[in-house]
Amino acid sequence: MINHQLIVVGGGLAGLRAAVEARADGIDVAVLSQVWPGRSHSGAAQGGINAALANDPEGHDDTPEKHAFDTVKGSDYLADQDAAIQMTSDAPGVIFEMEHWGCPFSRYDDGRIAQRPFGGAGYPRTCYGADKTGHYLLHTLVERAYQRGITMYTEQFVTRLIVHDGRCIGVVAYDMTKGGFEAFCGEAVIMATGGAGRTYSNTTNAIISTGGGMAMAYQAGVLLKDMEFIQFHPTGLLTTNILMTEGARGEGGYLINDLGERFMSKYAAKAMELAPRDITSRSIQTEINEGRGIGGKGYVYLDLRHLGAEKIMERLPGIRDLAIHFEGVDPIEEPVPIVPSQHYTMGGIDTDVNGATQLPGFYAAGECACVSVHGANRLGGNSLLETIVFGRRSGAAAARYIQGEPGGGAQAAAAPSAAAVQEMAVAVDRLASGAGSEDSYAIRAEMTTTMKEHFGIFRDAPTMRTGLDTMLALKERSRHMTLRNKFGVFNLDMMRTLELEGMIDVALATATGALARTESRGSHSRTDYPARDDVNWLKHTLAHYQPEGPRLDSKPVTLGTFEPQERKY
Ligand code: FUM
Repeated sequence: MINHQLIVVGGGLAGLRAAVEARADGIDVAVLSQVWPGRSHSGAAQGGINAALANDPEGHDDTPEKHAFDTVKGSDYLADQDAAIQMTSDAPGVIFEMEHWGCPFSRYDDGRIAQRPFGGAGYPRTCYGADKTGHYLLHTLVERAYQRGITMYTEQFVTRLIVHDGRCIGVVAYDMTKGGFEAFCGEAVIMATGGAGRTYSNTTNAIISTGGGMAMAYQAGVLLKDMEFIQFHPTGLLTTNILMTEGARGEGGYLINDLGERFMSKYAAKAMELAPRDITSRSIQTEINEGRGIGGKGYVYLDLRHLGAEKIMERLPGIRDLAIHFEGVDPIEEPVPIVPSQHYTMGGIDTDVNGATQLPGFYAAGECACVSVHGANRLGGNSLLETIVFGRRSGAAAARYIQGEPGGGAQAAAAPSAAAVQEMAVAVDRLASGAGSEDSYAIRAEMTTTMKEHFGIFRDAPTMRTGLDTMLALKERSRHMTLRNKFGVFNLDMMRTLELEGMIDVALATATGALARTESRGSHSRTDYPARDDVNWLKHTLAHYQPEGPRLDSKPVTLGTFEPQERKY
């Protein structure tokens, strides 16, 4: 058993920002990460991070209140308004802090941080570093975390929480480099493992974005909130779903159909290509469904040619490289074939604005959490902001909790942690016993295509019912999975098989929530219930884990500042 006061699971932006904050409060912090932290999925974020700095040289005024309004409107009024206001109020401060810690933001000629327009804002609010903003922020925090003496355990695959006497006191992890399970115990745990994009076959997300942190929390009895809300980014590369940043449209890129039309004029006449993502993705999908995809096929074009080589090379060099290497298209010369792609999990572990959950000692931050600031549809540029704002707040809150409970978790941990490690060994033995007949890779492939095809951009009851039945059948089949190899270091077969159980549970929460929510709101667009229904559904869904599939209930949305209105862009 390894002891630290605070165990942070996840070495991306939320986890590192939490760790840095708790360390500054004098806490002994360990970060456990599946990959070296600088390779976390936060580094794939491209276009930017929102904050009302009002740096726009054209003189647009901006305030945290306007940012909060755009966030709440973008969320289709499902965001908790106190949380959105908290996030946008904290935003300028955390950006300046990252700047002071060395983040190389792009700048205007006068030296101020440059800002570009993103969807749902209408003017430049998104701070950026070319099209590598996540990479720059992440490396700034990696450097800071090492410099501040945070202990890093990399190549640790965390498999479960350790809960004792109603408190979270640690986690069990498979050490890929040593090949065994180990307990990491402390007085508090912060989960910061990112989203569940890999439950879909058509995602922009990295291979490690499996929803593992959500699954571990859920299986330990912590509630998942609003899991039916899945964001489809309008512009993933056709062949691979790799992200082509919204910054490309922020810099002036067009979306073009087979007729050569900028079709967004039909759907969002004012905002055009910078409508929020739910509306833009639906518009692209409608063009495709109605036969106006390029050559009648399932994609449209992102056209950047009119921006010119100089602007593309300066502001969008990364997406040019990606388009060349993964699609064989140079955006300076040709339009880029794109398709809406699963990008973000709006729902997640139910937390308050300090990352606290209903389980004492257990916190969550970043995409695996649902505070909720994104509601039914997240605005681009608000996810990087969320990681840093709520990473910082959860690190501070965990530190306060630990300081109020000296020695509580670690002293009590020996027996329950040994039992938890033993349970993992038994679970692996069972999988490897040869008794199972099911191949986890076949189940995974069926799960991800089911989620894509039955819980995609447009949804209806018959399609979702069939999808949910398939998912429940896959859950049953997953009880009979077999493992080829239970031994050794870097046992990817074991990791992929173990994580699949959690992925199915998380995907079932999405599927069940989506079928239950009989309205259209934000990213949840039902052809059989096309209208938003504030009378019955202006509320959060909560999924309770049960072995046979989720049980749902709900809780109210925090309103009070912005009156729900029809969204027009
Ligand atoms: O399009 C992008 O650069 C993605 C940003 C985000 O998801 O916030």
